[in-house]
Amino acid sequence: MAGEPFYITTPIYYVNDSPHLGHAYTSVACDALARFMRLDGRQVLFLTGTDEHGQKVAKSARDSGVEPQAFCDRVAQNFRDMTKLMNVSNDVFIRTTEERHTKASQALWTALEKRGEIYLGRFKGWYSVRDEAFYEESELVAGKAPTGADVEWVEEENYFFKLAAWQDRLLAYYDAHPDFIAPKSRRNEVVSFVKGGLKDLSISRTSFEWGVPVPGNPKHVMYVWLDALTNYITALDYPDTSSKLYRTFWPADLHVVGKDIVRFHCVYWPAFLLAAGLEVPKRVFAHGWWTVEGQKMSKSLGNFITPKQLVDQYGVDPVRYFMLRELPFGSDGDFSHRAMVGRTNGDLANDFGNLAQRVLTQINRNCDARVPQPGALVPADETLLAAARDLLPKLREELAEPAFHRALETLWRVVGDANRYVDEQAPWALKKTDPARMATVLYVLAETIRHLALLAQPVVPEAAGKLLDQLAVGPDRRDFAALRHALKPGTQLPKPEGIFPRFVEAAAPA
Ligand code: MSP
Repeated sequence: MAGEPFYITTPIYYVNDSPHLGHAYTSVACDALARFMRLDGRQVLFLTGTDEHGQKVAKSARDSGVEPQAFCDRVAQNFRDMTKLMNVSNDVFIRTTEERHTKASQALWTALEKRGEIYLGRFKGWYSVRDEAFYEESELVAGKAPTGADVEWVEEENYFFKLAAWQDRLLAYYDAHPDFIAPKSRRNEVVSFVKGGLKDLSISRTSFEWGVPVPGNPKHVMYVWLDALTNYITALDYPDTSSKLYRTFWPADLHVVGKDIVRFHCVYWPAFLLAAGLEVPKRVFAHGWWTVEGQKMSKSLGNFITPKQLVDQYGVDPVRYFMLRELPFGSDGDFSHRAMVGRTNGDLANDFGNLAQRVLTQINRNCDARVPQPGALVPADETLLAAARDLLPKLREELAEPAFHRALETLWRVVGDANRYVDEQAPWALKKTDPARMATVLYVLAETIRHLALLAQPVVPEAAGKLLDQLAVGPDRRDFAALRHALKPGTQLPKPEGIFPRFVEAAAPA
């Protein structure tokens, strides 16, 4: 495999919850980027998986009357299924209960201990099991965590990581690496949190057993976040830092996370890594949260949406498209049936789907189902083709952020240009009057659609693949390097079929 490496990760999901819209969102966003980079010739490693230790998972196992390991084995499968269902092309699926992960977490612990970063002490403070996080008294709001989760008072013997001593070095690191935390608003939040003062962090627990044993003192299990964050290097063979995987892919190019877990990824994780003498990931991007029909998603409100419901109702590509197009990556947004149907029927069925269907049907009927032979190009033809050919560098720029919504807007601008061009050139009217010009117009359109289909693959892989089949673009001509291989006139094309069906509301029961 050649190409510049690109290592991208999703957070690993807590197995106590069933997969929902929010999990699918993070995974789909990472997937679109991983697919884009692969098609663009990068050597990609895309990691996802499950976070299986800690008090929250232990409690869920107990509630369902099974041993934690058996519980995890069963529910981790739900996340593997979600990954498959959403057409997520991860290279590795990691579970924190794997033996290699226990070893990696213990090795990181030992590295920190050897460097004098850990000491044994006594913890007294507030802990939220739901958040798996410690809170200061001053952070509590009406006796609850700032997230609204319940907290409990914990007093026990714990190991501590000397986080306070890292305050200035972290601030210096953020200063020297202005792109480390994105978007900017999150960066500002983290910087002011760290400036506000850091306390040493409790990194072990003694009141339950479901975790990675602390090396040399198995009475303690490691704090679940220290264990969980290590997954990003376990997957690269850590502690074997001379392994090919580690050398190729660390530091990671991008950790995509939700806004709720920024502190863990942007404060604790770089501090652990720096303290262990390891490199820090290049970028952490925090996306926003979805509400559903204007309300926080929750099982008790009955508006908890599973990826399966979404895909059954709308199809996988429309859901992927909607998630990435509907809101700026980084902002919060609302998932509503109305908005979902609007995008499906507007952007996908009417704009892109109809364009492809109209053009391919005319080629099928009027050009003997072969790629037409173009004649001399007029300025309108050149303008449309140039817009299509200019897309890749623009998309690269937008996805470096990553700003999925802008990348899709850019792509759809050319869909709009192509639709206007069809209307203006009216190829159907040229059939009798100027068949040579009709062939040129249809060729320009087919070539534009080929660009759009190739570039839409990361977001709507199934539909784009079908469209490329209909243009007789073989599997070896589907990466971005193939953008320059224009369609060959005379190539036989299969019968066209719609790629983006309209969503039709089921009739209300009589
Ligand atoms: N296990 C930790 C992550 C450890 S990474 C080393 C965790 N797991 S989680 O399952 O609770 O959350 C996983 C991701 O889903 C988070 O990035 C979170 O922000 C995201 N989402 C959960 N609900 C969400 C929405 N309603 N909307 C968007 N994303 C949401 O945290």
